Amino acid sequence: MTLSTRNPGAAALALAALLAGTACSAPPQGLARGEAIYDTCSPCHGSMGEGTQRLGAPAIAGLPQWYVETQLRNFEAGYRGAHPMDTVGIRMHSMAQVLRQEGDLESVAEYVASLPRADLEPVLAGDAQAGAAVYAETCVACHGPAAEGMEALGGPPLVGQSDWYLLRQFQKFRMGWRGTNTGDMFGMTMRPNSMLYTDEAVVNAIAYVQTLN
Ligand code: HEC
Ligand code: HEC
Repeated sequence: MTLSTRNPGAAALALAALLAGTACSAPPQGLARGEAIYDTCSPCHGSMGEGTQRLGAPAIAGLPQWYVETQLRNFEAGYRGAHPMDTVGIRMHSMAQVLRQEGDLESVAEYVASLPRADLEPVLAGDAQAGAAVYAETCVACHGPAAEGMEALGGPPLVGQSDWYLLRQFQKFRMGWRGTNTGDMFGMTMRPNSMLYTDEAVVNAIAYVQTLN
């Protein structure tokens, strides 16, 4: 199926139609089914999962399956993308509602995890050297020495991700648009850290993370 890249808002409806139409004949859980479902993600996240800054949609290629699954559930539960001011997050909130059939969410997460990590151009101008100190002081504990992520603590990889998106999410934690729901166990561990640093310090930490890519 094809979707207009000019109208990504139609994607949720299109996926609902796709899933309704294939209710009896969906391929078994796994990569093939994930790839088919991914057609509905690509208008926003790009055909290779590289993201689209204009739409606020992050790179998701190569994110670990456990993290993609957690976030799809978090959007569905309204732990993310439900704040009335979060007009960008809401796009993804409505999208996650339609992965209804058993195995859909796991299949698409498996497919996303299988995509090679995107090669992304930094758009922020932070001081990576100053940022190394911030990273070593705090972020390393949950995001890992190479920013590769730490599954046991729920910390996602920060490498392979656009700098503009990382900054925006940090701010969303600080503003309480993410990480405030008591059901959001991992988000709640991130939020206090977002209150420790100014935007300048975070932009520097993110510049350091870009050097680890
Ligand atoms: C209408 C556009 C749109 C579509 C379609 C869409 N997304 Fe998203 N997605 C977004 C936006 C925007 C964000 C960032 C939300 C925010 O800022 O909190 C996002 C965030 C995510 C994240 C969180 C990434 C992270 O690092 O935390 C994952 C995972 C994700 N999307 C997966 C998917 C999958 C899988 C599909 C298809 C089933 C999909 N998205 C379809 C717009 C979209
Ligand atoms: C106590 C553990 C912990 C520490 C310390 C920590 N984080 Fe996190 N961080 C997390 C967890 C857990 C998540 C994922 C939350 C979720 O599931 O929504 C996260 C998510 C993020 C995200 C969102 C990534 C995405 O793909 O959406 C950013 C950006 C981030 N952290 C940056 C930082 C930075 C920068 C620091 C250091 C100043 C830091 N974190 C310190 C645990 C931590």
